[in-house]
Amino acid sequence: MTDFVVAGPAGPLRGVVRVPGDKSIAHRSLLVAALADGESEVRALPDGDDVARSASAVQRIGARLVDQGPARHPGTRGVVRISGGRSCLHAPDGALDMGNSGTAMRLMCGLVAPWPWSVTLTGDASLRRRPMRRIARPLRMMGAHVDCQGDDCTAPLQIDGGHLDGIDYAPPEASAQVKGAVLLAGLGAEGETVVRERYPTRTHTEDLLAACGARVTVDFDDEGRRCVRVSASKLDPLSIEIPSDPSHGAFWIVAACTVPGSNVTVQNLYVGPARAGFLDVLRRMGADVTVEEKPGTEPIADVTAAYAPLQATDVDAGEVPGLIDEIPILAVAAAHAEGVTRFSGLGELRAKESDRLATVVSMLASFGVDAVASDDVDGLSVTGHGGRHLGAGRVDAHLDHRIAMAAAVAALYSDGPTTIGGWEAVATSYPTFAEDLAGLAR
Ligand code: S3P
Repeated sequence: MTDFVVAGPAGPLRGVVRVPGDKSIAHRSLLVAALADGESEVRALPDGDDVARSASAVQRIGARLVDQGPARHPGTRGVVRISGGRSCLHAPDGALDMGNSGTAMRLMCGLVAPWPWSVTLTGDASLRRRPMRRIARPLRMMGAHVDCQGDDCTAPLQIDGGHLDGIDYAPPEASAQVKGAVLLAGLGAEGETVVRERYPTRTHTEDLLAACGARVTVDFDDEGRRCVRVSASKLDPLSIEIPSDPSHGAFWIVAACTVPGSNVTVQNLYVGPARAGFLDVLRRMGADVTVEEKPGTEPIADVTAAYAPLQATDVDAGEVPGLIDEIPILAVAAAHAEGVTRFSGLGELRAKESDRLATVVSMLASFGVDAVASDDVDGLSVTGHGGRHLGAGRVDAHLDHRIAMAAAVAALYSDGPTTIGGWEAVATSYPTFAEDLAGLAR
């Protein structure tokens, strides 16, 4: 295990940072490009391990990826040209190893299901513990055979695909990964496939499918659920520049909000539907955050945050799908605030890279912060230190990149050095985090 030591208390963070590209958009861009007939172009692909797993998986099923041109930003690849489509795709030879990435695994299951292949997907120890029934269930309803392990239907998974029928599906969990898997399977199914969401999740699958000319529409049903409908489609090639990941930007935004004297601008962040809810929560807490939207078709902004004392707030279940990845870092903001912040509807956190409800609580406890998880409402309450330093200590990242990085931010305003064990997890999503921290803390 690699340790990372943050020497708190740190001085103010100042400057401009460009975080790696958005993982959710990147995984989907690779998959959609593999299905599209012709040559797609993806610029600024993030080069963390999670996205590399999707890149390798689409190569293993026959897509060709060629790097062209130098990277323009640290932590990204330059221009990647991807040739895919019906004429080149084939069954992989051997298992697809999706590493630590739940998104890569779940989306890939949807992609392969309509093909007459037998595909095995596996991953690291953390991914092999994560629930896959959520995608096995709808894919089986569509006609795929899915073999998995034990009651939780964990990986390794074997998908025997082929003819699928469209389904009308209201997932019990608010999950963009489930929606994405079903829609990708629906692209190759007979008849219409519908996914109905009570709480809207990130919209990247449907957005990218629409950009490639798929037959996809969105409407709302009588119960107010957002319905995404897709029918079998041929995809046109994609051309995209991946915007920066809001869940990475959130680390620096919260760091600036909580370390006195800080002022940080995070450039080029994706702030589109179901991704920027953490900014609303921070504003409710009294944060000094300015969002400067950029002209263009994509919702992208430079976001500047400066230190201001924070107040506790409540975050309810309806808000959670729009900020699910930012809960660990919002819990750090809550640890600095005045009063008790209460989150509810966090059940999905238990199915992340770690049981994130438990690991957020233990991470905050390492800093002497009183945080309690309650099973009845899947809630979390955090008693803030009201602007006083946190205690310093030792944190175990539990194979979870977001716990490691949230701990690094918490450690900046604590009263001594903090050691974060298992820092290597950060390489899955944000390998240049430590360099960016050093650049801002100069
Ligand atoms: C993601 C969806 C979310 C999120 C994950 C990425 C995606 O997971 O936590 O980091 O790209 O679809 P769920 O869909 O399981 O909530």
